Amino acid sequence: MIPKEVYVRRRQQLKKELGSGLALFPGNQEVSYNYPANTYSYRQDSHFLYFFGLTHPGFAGIIDVDEDKDIVFGNDVDIEDIIWMGSQPSVADQAASTGITTIAPYAALTGVLASALNKGRKIHFLPPYRGETQIELSQWLGIPVGELRGKASVELIRAVVRLKEIKDDYEIAEMEKATDIACLMHTTGMKMCLPGIKEQEIAGTMEGIALALAGPVSFPIILSMDGQTLHNHYHGNILKEGRMVVIDAGCETLTGYSSDITRTVPVGGRFNSRQKEVYEAVLMANMEVIKKLKPGIRYFDMHMLAARTLTTALKEIGLMKGDVDEAVAAGAHTLFLPHGLGHMLGMDVHDMEGIGENYVGYDETIQRASAFGTAYLRLARELKTGFTLTVEPGCYFIPALIDQFRSEGKFTDFINYDKVESYKDFGGIRIEDDVLITADGHKVLGKPIPKTIAEIEKTMTEAREWIKMPGII
Ligand code: GLY
Repeated sequence: MIPKEVYVRRRQQLKKELGSGLALFPGNQEVSYNYPANTYSYRQDSHFLYFFGLTHPGFAGIIDVDEDKDIVFGNDVDIEDIIWMGSQPSVADQAASTGITTIAPYAALTGVLASALNKGRKIHFLPPYRGETQIELSQWLGIPVGELRGKASVELIRAVVRLKEIKDDYEIAEMEKATDIACLMHTTGMKMCLPGIKEQEIAGTMEGIALALAGPVSFPIILSMDGQTLHNHYHGNILKEGRMVVIDAGCETLTGYSSDITRTVPVGGRFNSRQKEVYEAVLMANMEVIKKLKPGIRYFDMHMLAARTLTTALKEIGLMKGDVDEAVAAGAHTLFLPHGLGHMLGMDVHDMEGIGENYVGYDETIQRASAFGTAYLRLARELKTGFTLTVEPGCYFIPALIDQFRSEGKFTDFINYDKVESYKDFGGIRIEDDVLITADGHKVLGKPIPKTIAEIEKTMTEAREWIKMPGII
């Protein structure tokens, strides 16, 4: 439980950062699934949650910088609500739990905002990402829906990023919890990777663990033998010996903090020699980067370190050739690693991505590259103490990309296409950990999750013996 003083401090810091105006934070509303009363499972907006801490729908908050006032708008339940939902804590009690004493009915927000607009006051708001919020903002502020994102407050975006990028001890403890649960999800998932099992059974079991122990999964589980597809949500394959499974999954805690872990495991529990070689290459990239993480280094440079490490290993395997630095400078590694090394992690699994990835992952010292692959880096800038981020190098054999690069004659000095052709059935490998940047280096969050070949094979083989016992499956 985050104490109310923390929320009070966050709102005061935001006022200091903003200097003037009022900041409007719409909470998320319920969203219908297939008919109005049947809604998706509810998730509060992360920014509202960070500053106001209220987890239920039906709220909005204002941080009035000029008048040094924080207001929560929301309605107490009526008898009809109580019949269906049971009694609920009053808005006053909920608001008081995060240090807010000024409350008003939800409908009063329209008048407060109209009056502020009439006085020419600046109303700061963040770029909205949900249709429902866009409609409300449009009605409150008189801005056409299509223009809202462009009229969002850059001062507020920058202020929110400055506050939220540095995680406090409460947040770090929550993220440790989320990663510990991800550990159980992953060790359970890898133990189930046996020939004949359907991917869906594993994904469903892992999601069940998240739901049983914390909040929902932090994003739809990526789990597939076709790991060459970076975000593969199709779970219909039956596992086959000789293939690997990429499992990329995490959960949220009840306060909304995320984990995001990837492991790649061999079906049946034993890597073959071809899989071992590529796995070691990706593992080396993951570990070389983690070893170097500390405040003051640029994540772009870590991405390039991962690219060089991978290229060196792929050269040893015979998939790449030529000078490693020249190959990476030319971008030849992007055939195998077409995504960035990682992203900020927090309440959103891609922390704050909704308010603009460039504000979160880049700054005035580094702009987004335009070249294929490198342009996809979500995080490139200098790391600070208190950042939490993912380290997730991968190596993928994407038949369509191999065909495209080859037909375009790309990187022929650096890629052994004939050998690469024979890996078109390989799939992909990704290895991802969640890391906190500390004053003197870094800390990998959560309990250790089997990661080396020996650890994964031991975990899976022991499970295989157990699963074979009569009556287990
Ligand atoms: N691990 C899923 C993602 O980063 O999008």
